[in-house]
Amino acid sequence: MVANTRLRTAIVTGGGTGIGRAVAEALIADGLEVVITGRRADVLERTAKEIGARAVDFDAADPEAVTRALDRLPSEVDVLVNNAGGVVQGRDLKETWLANYELNVVTAVLVTEALKPRLAQHARIATIGSIAARKGAGSYGAAKAALEAWTADLAFALGSRGVTANLVAPGYIDDTEFFGDTMTDERRTWLVGSTANGRAGTPADVASVVAFLTSPAAGHITGQVVPVNGGANLAR
Ligand SMILES: NC(=O)c1ccc[n+]([C@@H]2O[C@H](COP(=O)([O-])OP(=O)(O)OC[C@H]3O[C@@H](n4cnc5c(N)ncnc54)[C@H](OP(=O)(O)O)[C@@H]3O)[C@@H](O)[C@H]2O)c1
Repeated sequence: MVANTRLRTAIVTGGGTGIGRAVAEALIADGLEVVITGRRADVLERTAKEIGARAVDFDAADPEAVTRALDRLPSEVDVLVNNAGGVVQGRDLKETWLANYELNVVTAVLVTEALKPRLAQHARIATIGSIAARKGAGSYGAAKAALEAWTADLAFALGSRGVTANLVAPGYIDDTEFFGDTMTDERRTWLVGSTANGRAGTPADVASVVAFLTSPAAGHITGQVVPVNGGANLAR
């Protein structure tokens, strides 16, 4: 019998910066061929070059852009990491709620639905949620909570193919573009003070958990929410 020597492939949305970049690096270190996606082609290209990934730029919230991008994405996908997301503030009430839903939920749903036919047997899906789903944070937290419900649904829809779907829920993570220029010393001190281990999380803290959950070894973990928050919220 000829051994299947195909390298496992991964797609990491929002892989140009922060947590997504660290996830891409961890998967590359595990021997996967990794595609990183995002809207800013220049940011993506720079990161791709630095870490040894391939860049494919598209807006994950735009159904037509997602469809058009399919030609540039792997024909068989072993690992999909729905990481693109963030928080939208400062618009009127309805716009803010819809924008957070679009950025965090619609992006993950559109990319996953488009790639479903390409998911390999025993593929792995990891979606990045947030501690905010369990600790308020208005429309952003509500959007991340919706991802938890969707993840459970995905796990059952794809389980017969050996595919797993899990959500990784970070607490406060340093070294990302998430907070822009809105983080103050006071807020950071409060966030770090709410952990059990007295430190902020790092993108690598999240990446190592995603790398395990998307590995072949994690085949019996599915439909779960896995917190990475230094104890800032206890999943008991
Ligand atoms: N940092 C934290 O403390 C924290 C805590 C809990 C959860 N999270 C979650 O972690 C995930 C990663 O965020 P991060 O903290 O690493 O912040 P980040 O550095 O801002 O990363 C977000 C990435 O998503 C991409 N993105 C945003 N909208 C997109 C779209 N419509 N289509 C394609 N790509 C898009 C961005 O690239 P472009 O702008 O180029 O598109 C960017 O690379 C997010 O889901 C976030 O909600 C973060």
